[in-house]
Amino acid sequence: MLKEKMLKALNEQINAEQYSALLYLSMSAYFNDMGLPGFGNWMYVQYQEELTHANKFFNYVIERGGKVEVKAIKQMPTSWEGVIEVFEKTLEHEQLVTSLINELVDIAIAEKDHASQSFLRWFVDEQVEEEANVTEILDTLKLINGQGNGIFMLDREMRTRVFVDTTTAAE
Ligand SMILES: [Fe+2]
Ligand SMILES: [Fe+2]
Repeated sequence: MLKEKMLKALNEQINAEQYSALLYLSMSAYFNDMGLPGFGNWMYVQYQEELTHANKFFNYVIERGGKVEVKAIKQMPTSWEGVIEVFEKTLEHEQLVTSLINELVDIAIAEKDHASQSFLRWFVDEQVEEEANVTEILDTLKLINGQGNGIFMLDREMRTRVFVDTTTAAE
């Protein structure tokens, strides 16, 4: 059985992951509207990934005998000042999520909840990857100043990203 503080924090994380999903869906809509379908695809895959994160937490809470509280999701932005700003905000958001995951680990340690510590390790590793991927794209975007031919080349590359549910792989 989950302790109350852990349960509350896990429920908040379900909401944070759902917010992440819709933030990236909104970014996907923005890119498609801008005429950058490859970037739109990349963000759509990101949206799908975040849903699997939310569901991984959802299933974990249930598995531990906790009650999931599905909550309202706050309004996400719908427009940005360009491609670079979108990825700057994405990196900021992933850094925020990393701090939330770290706080969850801190609670699990304080509560001596070994099962949650083990479960959260997957997310600790996932956040390292998330931040690295976004940083790499942001660096490339800065090199090409977020415009010109480079953007169209990059858009073509972003089109190739396909969704893979990594949450169901061996833990
Ligand atoms: Fe996530
Ligand atoms: Fe993420």
